[in-house]
Amino acid sequence: MKHIAPSILSSDLSNIYKQVSIIEETGCKYLHIDVMDGHFVPNITIGPPYIKSLRKYSNMVFDVHLMIENPEKYIDGFSKAGADIITVHQEASPHLHRIIQQIKNNNKMAGVSINPATPLDSLKNIIDEIDLLLIMTVNPGFGGQKFIKTMEKKILEAAELIKKSSKNVFLEIDGGINKENIKNLKKYDVDIYVSGSAVFNDGSIKDNYNYLMESING
Ligand code: DX5
Ligand code: ZN
Repeated sequence: MKHIAPSILSSDLSNIYKQVSIIEETGCKYLHIDVMDGHFVPNITIGPPYIKSLRKYSNMVFDVHLMIENPEKYIDGFSKAGADIITVHQEASPHLHRIIQQIKNNNKMAGVSINPATPLDSLKNIIDEIDLLLIMTVNPGFGGQKFIKTMEKKILEAAELIKKSSKNVFLEIDGGINKENIKNLKKYDVDIYVSGSAVFNDGSIKDNYNYLMESING
């Protein structure tokens, strides 16, 4: 089964418990949590205390996307706070192999993300070490941006790279995924489709989520 991971970046953060409860009641498995530091990306969001607090109210898999510099300083903190998947950016991690081991030593799933301009080749030597590969389909920093069409080729290449690997690596895509383009994206071998504004911005959260889920699984 393919999954939609709603990104809470576009939710009403002052009403997060209610919004997350609605998502969880639909049977949603993954919750995407965007962490931004104002350095690696031009926006600031939340840190471990917020995740720790949310953890008490949800059993969903917390898919924590770290868009931060020096992620090695914070991995233990995010692990303790209740992250299940921790994804770091290749561009922010010169010692990527070491960071992946650090995530694994915390008994979390290790993800690596790449920005639109970063070649996939930069990951070919560590693909067998990771649990999840996240392809950014917008430049990270904000919700509600337009899907970068040329990333479709990269998604295909990523699926190929994973197929050749000895491990079962999840493929996730993030940014600009909405009700208009989801049916076209269904054909790719993607396990998790992140969607923020298309789930939370207009209309019923539940209907939006269900529509997106049916579009990739129907
Ligand atoms: C972008 C974030 C995304 C974002 C997706 O920097 O990593 O997860 O919240 O939001 P939409 O679906 O609105 O593009
Ligand atoms: Zn994200």
